Amino acid sequence: MFVGSSKERFVYHNTLLCLVKALQGQNITLDLRNDSYTCGQIVTVDGFMNISLCSAVYCDPQGNEFFFENLFIHGRNIRYIHIPENMSIIATIKKELNKNKETGPVKKPIAKSRKNTKALQQHMQTVASLDL
Ligand SMILES: *[C@@H]1O[C@H](CO)[C@@H](O)[C@H](O)[C@H]1NC(C)=O
Ligand SMILES: *[C@@H]1O[C@H](CO)[C@@H](O)[C@H](O)[C@H]1NC(C)=O
Ligand SMILES: *[C@@H]1O[C@H](CO)[C@@H](O)[C@H](O)[C@H]1NC(C)=O
Ligand SMILES: *[C@@H]1O[C@H](CO)[C@@H](O)[C@H](O)[C@H]1NC(C)=O
Repeated sequence: MFVGSSKERFVYHNTLLCLVKALQGQNITLDLRNDSYTCGQIVTVDGFMNISLCSAVYCDPQGNEFFFENLFIHGRNIRYIHIPENMSIIATIKKELNKNKETGPVKKPIAKSRKNTKALQQHMQTVASLDL
């Protein structure tokens, strides 16, 4: 089950963040916005795509390499995530999202009411305010 604020959960279910989340435990390469890059094993990914890595190598634009036992990368600094070539993207997304399926009884469709209309409007506002 994905844990996080409602905004984080929304991003997880509605963007490709779930794909990044599925990379947890894998060794990957991240290109950063400031022309440096880093390789390491993904430990955790949160709903803002902040990524913490372990056994990471940070490489600055001049080509100097630095080793970090643990490295935290802010989501907004990430330019590009190299997806491992042997990974099937569609299969991974399906698997990741199935993992989080609620197993409870099927919910009845929500009847239209003023309260629900208002909730939907708020939901749309949240979507509009997301800075994606
Ligand atoms: C990731 O790379 C490190 C260091 O090269 C290695 O020790 C580790 O086993 C690798 N992990 C995976 C999941 O490939
Ligand atoms: C590039 O961004 C990373 C992650 O925020 C930071 O650790 C690093 O110091 C930055 N490098 C340069 C050369 O600005
Ligand atoms: C992750 O990034 C978001 C937005 O960039 C920030 O608000 C949040 O505090 C970060 N989380 C951590 C644990 O630093
Ligand atoms: C892809 O290859 C890496 C290294 O050989 C391995 O650690 C990883 O589990 C593989 N991933 C998949 C989805 O097969």
